[in-house]
Amino acid sequence: MNGIDEKPLFNPELLRQIDWSVRKSSFKDGISPENPGKNLQLRPLMMDDYDQGFLNLLGQLTSVGEVTAAAFQKRFLAMKHCPNTYYVVVLEDTNKQQVIGSATLVIEQKFIHSTGCRGRIEDVVVSEDYRGQQLGKLLVETLTLLGKEVGCYKMSLECKEDNVRFYKCFGYTPDGQYFMVQRFSD
Ligand SMILES: CC(C)(COP(=O)(O)OP(=O)(O)OC[C@H]1O[C@@H](n2cnc3c(N)ncnc32)[C@H](O)[C@@H]1OP(=O)(O)O)[C@@H](O)C(=O)NCCC(=O)NCCS
Repeated sequence: MNGIDEKPLFNPELLRQIDWSVRKSSFKDGISPENPGKNLQLRPLMMDDYDQGFLNLLGQLTSVGEVTAAAFQKRFLAMKHCPNTYYVVVLEDTNKQQVIGSATLVIEQKFIHSTGCRGRIEDVVVSEDYRGQQLGKLLVETLTLLGKEVGCYKMSLECKEDNVRFYKCFGYTPDGQYFMVQRFSD
């Protein structure tokens, strides 16, 4: 897919501007967005990531379906052309040139809260072989702080009960409301 649009989904500078010192979770071995671990890089999603296993990774989270390269490009560009809305971050194993972790921050613009913005964290996944190395934590903490940085008045996410303990360490708490859902397809 070289030459079409390899630019990142959003400005990578934003990841460097995050104030890591105000994080609520703790990390061993100096893990941070600049230093995710040996041969690992944390960066925005790129168009090329179609060929780097991004969709296979998402397949460890949910049903991905048949997504052609053209469909991927179209969706990537549609997201990119919604400024300040979609922040998909990935972790790449630079030795294997494979995407091994990802999470998404979506910014919802509101009329309420003085035309405020709410952030939602979605699609958090770390490839099975890389779990237990603080990478899931790194992805969620990075996006939580990014949400703060871009001015969200509130951040939220939906998760299974099994993952509640995982999300509590970043400051998320169950708010007692129901999460309602209706599916029209898989
Ligand atoms: C959930 C997931 C992203 C965690 O990624 P990971 O890289 O293995 O997690 P980390 O190594 O960063 O774990 C950090 C901490 O959370 C804990 N933890 C990890 N997964 C957990 C879970 N499902 N429930 C509770 N605690 C969990 C770890 O024990 C660790 O605790 P510690 O810091 O006290 O040692 C990963 O298991 C995954 O991709 N699962 C499948 C997809 C999924 O369920 N996504 C979440 C959708 S809401």
